[in-house]
Amino acid sequence: MLDFRNLNSVAVGEAMVELAPVGEGQYRRGFAGDTFNTAWHMAQAMTGRASASFVTRVGTDRISDAFVTELKADGLNVSFISRDPVRGMGLYMIHLDGVERSFHYWRDTSAARGLAADAGALAQAFAGAGLIHLSGITLAILPAADRQTLFAALAQARADGARVSFDPNNRPRLWSSLDEVRQVIPQVLALTDIALPSHDDEAAVWGDADPLATIARLAAAGVAEVAVKDGAGPVAVFSNGVIQTLATPAVAGVVDTTGAGDGFNAGYLSARLLGQTPEMAVRAGQQFSGKVIQHFGARMPKGAVPPLA
Ligand SMILES: Nc1ncnc2c1ncn2[C@@H]1O[C@H](COP(=O)(O)OP(=O)(O)OP(=O)(O)O)[C@@H](O)[C@H]1O
Ligand SMILES: [Mg+2]
Repeated sequence: MLDFRNLNSVAVGEAMVELAPVGEGQYRRGFAGDTFNTAWHMAQAMTGRASASFVTRVGTDRISDAFVTELKADGLNVSFISRDPVRGMGLYMIHLDGVERSFHYWRDTSAARGLAADAGALAQAFAGAGLIHLSGITLAILPAADRQTLFAALAQARADGARVSFDPNNRPRLWSSLDEVRQVIPQVLALTDIALPSHDDEAAVWGDADPLATIARLAAAGVAEVAVKDGAGPVAVFSNGVIQTLATPAVAGVVDTTGAGDGFNAGYLSARLLGQTPEMAVRAGQQFSGKVIQHFGARMPKGAVPPLA
């Protein structure tokens, strides 16, 4: 079983301003983004036991200030968040049509696209990390040259003993083509210790027939530990060369599945960082994601985050 050199987690990616409808033409401002959602839940779950840092780039405006202030208040380490003097945070708006939700994004020029421009800053953020978490969305928003800067920093951190976790989180609209996805993902898999994919995403990009096909493909790419999510279906987990299929408990009162995968990742990674087995980590992931989908939005209320055993 993989172990960790220390209890510091570092998640890398984009957080956006979220506008969620509260009435006709009225919205509540929040913050969300896949790796950010994961880091935030990890910070709550591991309070006082392990650290959660979020690496991103935001603006110098009031909204960006409010974001950083909120993270600090919620127990995240914000010392690796850089500031862009020109660009600000990306934005998305949730549109409700009955119970159907659609998302409208303004993120093409977000400051987060510059989060990997500075090799020295990345090296600093990763130097003290036991675990570094990123996603396919983190990679999709970066200029191609900065992706290579990020990969070089991950390779160095790994050589120094950090573990890398990766959620492919395929979002076709963020990439120029499926070919680009298929060209970039193998590069990050070569640097990945723990992969946390979802069956739907892997079927869409690689044609995987089922979660076991995903495990076979990722194991062949050299990934030591894999947990494949599949909505309400079982989670297939691979570690020490052994595959287990673990049923997902039924969840009552599902109101919004946004952020289910990010919540799962938070439970899984917190449990693993604190020394639990991959099997126990799947249980924590299922527990966290089960709670996330019982609430509107990508994050559950702060007080609802279950402490880890
Ligand atoms: N309907 C459901 N009932 C019970 N658990 C669920 C349900 N949907 C999701 N989950 C839980 O959430 C986890 C992640 O769900 P899913 O496979 O949909 O992630 P995802 O596709 O990565 O989501 P995301 O949209 O956040 O990227 C599942 O492994 C499961 O534990
Ligand atoms: Mg996902």
